[in-house]
Amino acid sequence: MDTIPAVGLTTTEAPFIEQAKTEGKLYIQQPYELYSPENHEAWKKLYHRIIPRWQKYANEHFLRGIDSLCLNSGAVPRLDDVNRFLKPLTGFKAKAVSGYVPAFLFFDCLRNREFPTTITIRRSDKLDYLPEPDIFHDVAGHVPMHTDKAFAETLVRFGESAHTAAELVSGIGDERRRIRTLTSIIKAMARFFWFTVEFGLMRGADGLRVYGSGLLSSYGEIEHAVESPEVQRYPIQLEWAVNQAFEIDHYQPLLFIVESFDHLFDLVGRLERWMKSGKLNNVAPGEPAVNEQDLKSFLEAGPRT
Ligand SMILES: [Fe+2]
Repeated sequence: MDTIPAVGLTTTEAPFIEQAKTEGKLYIQQPYELYSPENHEAWKKLYHRIIPRWQKYANEHFLRGIDSLCLNSGAVPRLDDVNRFLKPLTGFKAKAVSGYVPAFLFFDCLRNREFPTTITIRRSDKLDYLPEPDIFHDVAGHVPMHTDKAFAETLVRFGESAHTAAELVSGIGDERRRIRTLTSIIKAMARFFWFTVEFGLMRGADGLRVYGSGLLSSYGEIEHAVESPEVQRYPIQLEWAVNQAFEIDHYQPLLFIVESFDHLFDLVGRLERWMKSGKLNNVAPGEPAVNEQDLKSFLEAGPRT
């Protein structure tokens, strides 16, 4: 059996993270000195091997973002350094977290231009195995997108719609109906997020390009998403995406294409209008599961500030 190292910030093996969770701390500092040589090695390997695939498959907004963030390719980046370049561009910043962020809190962070960011990194001998998000997914996959103004505004708008959802369900008197409605709306929002921010494709002058962070941070899947004849790729239809279940443990067999980030922004507006009209109250059952923490986070949501 593998031994758990006393130091290091390796995914699922980091004592610092376990301690933070035990103490109930969700928002944390990035204790940079705890990264082990193996952690830095993992970052370096992940970064170097994916560069040619980004050149070939990533959309231009992402590639510009990578340049403007001046990410260190040789070692795990410091979030303070990343934020120094990011914040002046769109107001966004990466905010270190100890683990899973319940849905409402996550979306509300986006509204406040904060991106909950995992600070651990996968093992250097298992680069393709990802039991949960890590800093490579979050910082190399998501954060470069936050340098783009139109994309950043879309995330903020999406965060706004979480408040709309919380307000809507707070007006439902019957508790069972309130939970059922909320479960359906969270499911619809999670599916939208998955098929766009995590796994979206965009049409460009030179063909399909990737803008979803789950693809941008996966050496194998970024190529598969664009090249494989087995993947179904369709222009996004909101009514389809919000009713479409997905599984997280294999390459995605179905991906949706947007025309631009203005298109994506408009879709978020429509998602919110559908929410208000009740159209998201009974979306198709299936993945993703909505857990107690997600529900509680919406039910306890405070007013917009
Ligand atoms: Fe992600």
